[in-house]
Amino acid sequence: MPLPSTMQSVRFDTHGGPEVLQLVETPVPSPGPGEILIRSAAVGLNFIDIYQRTGLYPLPLPSGLGKEAAGVVEAVGDGVVRFEVGDRIATATAPVGAYGQFHVLPETAAVRVPDDISLETAAAVMLKGMTAEFLVRRAFHVKQGDEILLHAAAGGVGLILAQWARSLGATVIGTVGSEAKAELARAHGSNHVILYDREDVATRVKEITDGRGVAAAYDSVGAATFESSLASLKRRGTLILFGNASGPVPPFDPLRLSRGGSLYVTRPTLFDYVATVEELDASATALFDVIRNGAVKVEIGQTFPLANVREAHEALAGRKTTGSTLLIP
Ligand SMILES: NC(=O)c1ccc[n+]([C@@H]2O[C@H](COP(=O)([O-])OP(=O)(O)OC[C@H]3O[C@@H](n4cnc5c(N)ncnc54)[C@H](OP(=O)(O)O)[C@@H]3O)[C@@H](O)[C@H]2O)c1
Repeated sequence: MPLPSTMQSVRFDTHGGPEVLQLVETPVPSPGPGEILIRSAAVGLNFIDIYQRTGLYPLPLPSGLGKEAAGVVEAVGDGVVRFEVGDRIATATAPVGAYGQFHVLPETAAVRVPDDISLETAAAVMLKGMTAEFLVRRAFHVKQGDEILLHAAAGGVGLILAQWARSLGATVIGTVGSEAKAELARAHGSNHVILYDREDVATRVKEITDGRGVAAAYDSVGAATFESSLASLKRRGTLILFGNASGPVPPFDPLRLSRGGSLYVTRPTLFDYVATVEELDASATALFDVIRNGAVKVEIGQTFPLANVREAHEALAGRKTTGSTLLIP
């Protein structure tokens, strides 16, 4: 297919609600040295896009948006060695700009998509799945017999992380916001499900674990769940705080960790765990392996045309989505 001269992409001039997102017509960019141009088949929607839109994680403005996409390489810049025109690639670590029909990115931010994995699946899992990878294998090492708590277990990261941790031998206690999400979570890795808007999480965790508490609590909800995560840990347990869907956690006194039983807290981000090309390739390979061997089934809960990006943001921010969400450019 010949390259058009212009493309549709998403831009915003001020931080704010979904209404700041504008669909604009811009020239198709050319790749510079070390860069590739991809024609995106699908773009992944992520909570980080909301933090960047609202300004919780501010971007220099005006800006594009979007970290996650999969597509086909259309052009390569000088010095590119990893890819050729026609290769199928996916990305999650390039500078923002994935919300568009085409995307220019450093070749070091792309991985090859295996032939037996669709570009839609790749766009649905690159950021969320590599996040699950580093969370269960590196930020905390999930082992056979571990009991773990996972908030937002029916979400994009949640469904992948629950299945991956379960395949490593963990007992997964997932929290969700509705009965429908509870059913989905049970079908994707969660052994036990807590409706955290109605039940006291720490009390239920203690019941489920016969008073032990969990070895690790994976918390991406943040402000609303931080206390219950700490209270659910066993002695020397680890809280892996990796998001702020309900708002950022306020400062806290480290003595709380001593009183809670010599607890650990880490606040990791994917970009520090795939900081080199070697780490990126290793994380993506591990992710594609668990998809191919059936340990992790990818659930694309909803798909929106790129033109409906505002509606997609409203759905994700409003707890209306399950699993991964795609934008189709
Ligand atoms: N640290 C990292 O490197 C990293 C990387 C990727 C993602 N993350 C984080 O992981 C989390 C999940 O990301 P995702 O893209 O897969 O999103 P998601 O889990 O599909 O969506 C967020 C979910 O959080 C729950 N939630 C609870 N309270 C909420 C509130 N007040 N507002 C909105 N949602 C609320 C909702 O599930 P219920 O209705 O079931 O409560 C909602 O569906 C996000 O916090 C994200 O920032 C972190």
